[in-house]
Amino acid sequence: MTPPLTQPAIVTIFGAAGDLTKRKLMPALYNLFLDKQLPSKFLVIGVSRQGDEESFRTYMQHGLAEFSRRGAADPEKWAEFAQNVTLVVGEYNDPETYNQLGVKIKEAETSFGFKAAHVFYLSTPPMIFGLIADGLGASGLAADRENARIVIEKPFGRDLESSEALNNQLLRSFEEKQIYRIDHYLGKETVQNILAFRFANALFEPVWNRRYVDHVQITVGEDVGVEKRGGYYETSGALRDMVQNHMLQLMCMVAMEPLVSFDADEVRNKKVDVLKAVRPLTNANPHDYAVRGQYGPGVKDGQFVPGYRQEPGVDPLSTTETYVALRLYLDNWRWQDVPFYLRTGKRMMRKMSQIVIVFRPVPHLMFAADATESFEPNRLVINIQPDEGIILKFQAKEPGTGMNLSTVSMGFDYNKTFQASSREAYETLLQEVISGDTTLFMRDDQERVAWNIVEPLLKAWQSRPSNTFPNYSAGSWGPEAADMLLARDGRSWANPMYIPHA
Ligand code: BG6
Repeated sequence: MTPPLTQPAIVTIFGAAGDLTKRKLMPALYNLFLDKQLPSKFLVIGVSRQGDEESFRTYMQHGLAEFSRRGAADPEKWAEFAQNVTLVVGEYNDPETYNQLGVKIKEAETSFGFKAAHVFYLSTPPMIFGLIADGLGASGLAADRENARIVIEKPFGRDLESSEALNNQLLRSFEEKQIYRIDHYLGKETVQNILAFRFANALFEPVWNRRYVDHVQITVGEDVGVEKRGGYYETSGALRDMVQNHMLQLMCMVAMEPLVSFDADEVRNKKVDVLKAVRPLTNANPHDYAVRGQYGPGVKDGQFVPGYRQEPGVDPLSTTETYVALRLYLDNWRWQDVPFYLRTGKRMMRKMSQIVIVFRPVPHLMFAADATESFEPNRLVINIQPDEGIILKFQAKEPGTGMNLSTVSMGFDYNKTFQASSREAYETLLQEVISGDTTLFMRDDQERVAWNIVEPLLKAWQSRPSNTFPNYSAGSWGPEAADMLLARDGRSWANPMYIPHA
């Protein structure tokens, strides 16, 4: 376990009454507190346009019952935690709000007797990120370059131009090293484990290249629809919501070169190298390498579920994509001509995020044709969630006379092996911000290159809205065209139906 942090921390959450605070941030802070991973001296300040301290605390306590991995909070422990939770009520464009905040921070620091880490977490609608950063800058709260940190939730802009504009606005008050751009996938244990798997074992790295790998598949499937986020999703779509960030980050973890050290810039440089190697997409013929989809009504677990266009807050004629499949190539020595197939969608058959490394067939099969009917080249399956774990699929001789081959698996199951439920990504990420480690956060150039990659496709799809939506049923694995994308290359999706220990 990481040793507890010693420097006191003051975590200010803008948008304190919002969903993210209740679902993720407060449960994460509370779980860190229970695990003794928060500094012993800490204060959580919510900033909200309305409400009072008591009802804010009660609302958060209810949030824990619903969303914390540990369920409802023990009343005594909660009372201990809640005495370090306070609220500032004010408008985000009012300097008085920042004055009040400054007073609370100063008071807390005086009582701690030490300089604290000041974390400002922007959990508000994206259009006011810049406004709040300016407010913090004007009030002097951003001035301490070592201790003041600003955390920005995604989406970081909605294209290259707007992300650069937001960046420039942040840089008026903060330096780059103070800015923590969240991609919560990087906080997931199974995502971090990819580096351990690749670089702490001698076995895999020698075959981790174009000589042995036929192709890579990255699936992030969700079984839920857009839920209550129709309004936001209509302005986003799957390409912005999932591909520009989470999917590209997963690809970086698979494709990056070995690290010299765990230094934040070393890790981020290696990832930027991957993104820079992506062969530019063209906006002329996107159907050559990309498929978009939108779910229609369907059946999920025996229940009828509505299509995207019937969801609250969604235009009944919407052309927003809820599914994307892509084929990318990396132009570098390691991966030249190895396709990376990425796909993500809402309302798919199962919630399943999985990376599959499909190896090339052996150069010569000396077995009789009927012995190898079910022959499959080796596959390494990294289950990001759920059923966290890793499976290696290989060929074995079936018992009995003759030489018949079957595909069998070796599995590593996270939960069984470590006898503990994985901690939530937000716990890891908040702890890293408090300790001032930027490794797991997106640097400005990384954000820019990622936008640069998807921008031609964004533009192409925007200028030619689909006239075939909806084109997949809720509860399926996505549109047929996505199967065709791989079929044209003589391949098929590894539809994830198994768990590591199966
Ligand atoms: C968020 C997206 O970033 O990631 C959501 O905005 C998506 O649309 C979510 O549902 C998926 O995260 P996870 O951790 O549930 O896979």
